[in-house]
Amino acid sequence: MSKPKANILFQLTGSIACYKACAVISKLVQSGCDVKTVCTENALKFIGKSTLEGLTHHAVYVDTFEDRSALEHIELTKWMDLAIICPATANVMNKLAAGVADDFVTTLFLAWDQKKPWLIAPAMNRNMWAHPATVRSVKTLGEWGVRILGTGKGYQACGDVGEGRLLEPEELYLAIRKHL
Ligand SMILES: Cc1cc2nc3c(=O)[nH]c(=O)nc-3n(C[C@H](O)[C@H](O)[C@H](O)COP(=O)(O)O)c2cc1C
Repeated sequence: MSKPKANILFQLTGSIACYKACAVISKLVQSGCDVKTVCTENALKFIGKSTLEGLTHHAVYVDTFEDRSALEHIELTKWMDLAIICPATANVMNKLAAGVADDFVTTLFLAWDQKKPWLIAPAMNRNMWAHPATVRSVKTLGEWGVRILGTGKGYQACGDVGEGRLLEPEELYLAIRKHL
């Protein structure tokens, strides 16, 4: 496969699956993409900034008001060729579908230039995935042109078995490549 050389805006939210996202980021960087990361405050409870900065060679964006230039959320949506939220919590998906923009990730989404692909890779417990609020949000986001990548079925960190697992890094990498 040829190298994509794309600008990827990679956003992480507060899921146990954040560690799997690191493998995807590493593969993207190795394949020639420029990757910038954005984290919710809760994502940083699962993964350290140093890991993401080491993998991408860029600072991590977390706070809409603190980071660098005041209009960074607009600059980033211009810079990116593709955005992905991976892993995406039930919380962030439900917030996006309600039009809430109260942190960096959700503010970026409202500033999204809809000509560019926006992917969501959900990761959550099977009951959260099956909850009517989440089901409705998945439908709404799909209608708005967001590409929901689906989930895997199997063992979940809480001990349950079912739908809602984050896809595997190789599947995520190929899905991103496909949308570039
Ligand atoms: C150990 C642990 C693992 C969690 N994993 C998930 C998860 O995989 N998916 C999810 O939707 N929420 C998960 N949560 C709950 C979210 O972290 C919580 O809803 C949080 O408010 C999400 O914030 P954010 O969407 O702003 O990152 C987990 C919580 C804990 C304590």
